[in-house]
Amino acid sequence: MGFPTSLVSIIFVTVATVVVSVAHGDPLVPMLCVFGDSVVDVGNNNNLNTIIKSNFPPYGRDFVTHKPTGRFCNGKLATDFTAEYLGFTSYPPAYLSKDAKGKNLLTGANFASAGSGYYERTAQFYRAITLTQQVAYYKEYQDKVVRMVGNERANAMFSGGIHLLSAGSSDFIQNYYINPVLNRAYSPDQFSNILMRSFSTFVQNLYGLGVRKIGVTTLPPTGCLPATITLFGGGSNQCVGRLNQDAISFNNKLNTTSQVLQNNLPGLKLVVFDIYHPLLDMVIKPTDQGFFEARKACCGTGTIETSLLCNARSIGTCSNATQYVYWDGFHPSESANQVLAQDLLEQGFSLIS
Ligand SMILES: *[C@@H]1O[C@H](CO)[C@@H](O)[C@H](O)[C@H]1NC(C)=O
Ligand SMILES: *[C@@H]1O[C@H](CO)[C@@H](O)[C@H](O)[C@H]1NC(C)=O
Repeated sequence: MGFPTSLVSIIFVTVATVVVSVAHGDPLVPMLCVFGDSVVDVGNNNNLNTIIKSNFPPYGRDFVTHKPTGRFCNGKLATDFTAEYLGFTSYPPAYLSKDAKGKNLLTGANFASAGSGYYERTAQFYRAITLTQQVAYYKEYQDKVVRMVGNERANAMFSGGIHLLSAGSSDFIQNYYINPVLNRAYSPDQFSNILMRSFSTFVQNLYGLGVRKIGVTTLPPTGCLPATITLFGGGSNQCVGRLNQDAISFNNKLNTTSQVLQNNLPGLKLVVFDIYHPLLDMVIKPTDQGFFEARKACCGTGTIETSLLCNARSIGTCSNATQYVYWDGFHPSESANQVLAQDLLEQGFSLIS
């Protein structure tokens, strides 16, 4: 890929600035809050009566503590790396965990819930936390912060802090594509329009609560997940083109909707983070980035057609996930997350400054 030299030097200078200010010990932003689905859940679902959980081995085996936390990964999520790059010395705690109290809340919190999405009924079906409820928890969180540090400092935190949202994958993969009631009633395009209304409401609600910096991730290439190739690939070993087309179309709407919101809400910085193309690159040209396996997941799809689930009894779990793009059938490995987080950093400068 050829970048103009000026762009390269801008990136270099900014990364250097990042490193310098982090070296002085101050995070680049006052706080980091996270909303959405299993891609960013750090353990909220541990506390819920849902089947969508990951607080058992081998999840977490490469994490700092080498223990399962509720992250759907062998190690760190992209947002964990993001927190490190921003200079935080701890990760925003899962809001429903016992860690979410006192001064731990002063650098942010994580409200995400696996199985959740833009469509309320996706979350309700899996007994996950709906996006509306995540915002309600965030409001409760704000009240706690105000009580601890007072209005002035709290408001500076809410307006200066970064708020990240990852959603949409569950709405399509764990709902739309397998739910005849939905996929007979709506075309993928119409369903995306419904999701966009929910996204707009989310952004407007946070804006109303004083938030000014929001980042939202696009859909990944949903047709290239090990699980979707197994479920929807019709026996083929290739990415499912139909699903990827739907993701591209959704991502274009997300982009347009974000531009409209940004124009209508003064002072709002809303960045759409493209994770579609970085992940597609890893899947199509794995060796370029040091991966050797992009089709099979390390855990749960070892013998492809037998299982979609990753747990301690999964047969054929790989011994070293470093060169796997996917940890389980739906979620990137820690090493893929690290690549994504570097892309997020490059795309997210306007949220830092
Ligand atoms: C969103 O739109 C902008 C401007 O039109 C474009 O530069 C960017 O690549 C688009 N991003 C995505 C994820 O489509
Ligand atoms: C996994 O493999 C990578 C290289 O692919 C290596 O650097 C790393 O040490 C290995 N980890 C373990 C636990 O063997």
